[in-house]
Amino acid sequence: MSAREQEFVEYVQSGGQVEATDWMPDDYRRLLIKFIEMHGNSELMGVLPEREWILRAPTLQRKLALTAKVQDEAGHSQLIYRVVEDLGKPREECLEDLISGKSKFHNVFHYPTFTWGDVGVIAWLVDAAAIISQKALLKCSYAPYARIMKKICWEESFHILHGRDVVLTMMLGTDEQRELVQEALNRWWGPLMQFHGNPIPSGDDPMFHWRIKSQGNDEARQQFLDGYVPQIWELGLTVPDPELRKDEETGRWHFSEPDWAELKHVVTGHGPKTQERLELRRISREETEWVRKIVLAKAA
Ligand SMILES: [Fe+2]
Ligand SMILES: [Fe+2]
Repeated sequence: MSAREQEFVEYVQSGGQVEATDWMPDDYRRLLIKFIEMHGNSELMGVLPEREWILRAPTLQRKLALTAKVQDEAGHSQLIYRVVEDLGKPREECLEDLISGKSKFHNVFHYPTFTWGDVGVIAWLVDAAAIISQKALLKCSYAPYARIMKKICWEESFHILHGRDVVLTMMLGTDEQRELVQEALNRWWGPLMQFHGNPIPSGDDPMFHWRIKSQGNDEARQQFLDGYVPQIWELGLTVPDPELRKDEETGRWHFSEPDWAELKHVVTGHGPKTQERLELRRISREETEWVRKIVLAKAA
């Protein structure tokens, strides 16, 4: 490592923040692009499972809230791809790599949605898991990313309220509605427990070295369990893990080991809905090609 790089590491590790125009080591830039691009991809792909339910929303209010959420998520991907663009990777290239399967997106967006129960569980618990990581990124060493996280977190907290309200309404409804939510929770629990990734000792994680991340995967999962398991129980739902319990002495949650093989399989493009959703992106990109051509021709 050169003296300049060493100085940079010391600077970020002591809490210093980096702007887009500042000098930065190539490794730092590469890792930032990869990480932030995957975040942008996830926001973009995350709208697809919910989008399917806009036309089937049970009331006008639910339709409005769901449409607003989907618009927010598409907006998050726009903001995030701009950050990647400033780091040197154009948005067009990000979209190409997403569609071709070269880059990845979060595990939870590779699964199907079967009922309105899924809509509630996704907005409440998937967004809750996401906001835990995103709140930790408010302290990211790369300042432009940390700054946009403020707006994103504010909107995510609205999504969580919307999701909780969908779930609460169904839990106060009929037995059939309650069963729908429980069935959705049963299917989502595994992917939710995989969401924050397998525990990596912070000493081995280059994301910590550059202070891109300052929260461990396991720490994020514990925070998720701490914040949401009591709420899940309060609503009368059962968490489908017989091992789940909180150790009152240490304050830590015990749970069945998440299925890491499934996580790897899914995020490498083999989820139940991966190819269908990427195909949808491919088609919409083809169909909108003429718009890009006209807009870019006029700008030139
Ligand atoms: Fe989002
Ligand atoms: Fe969200």
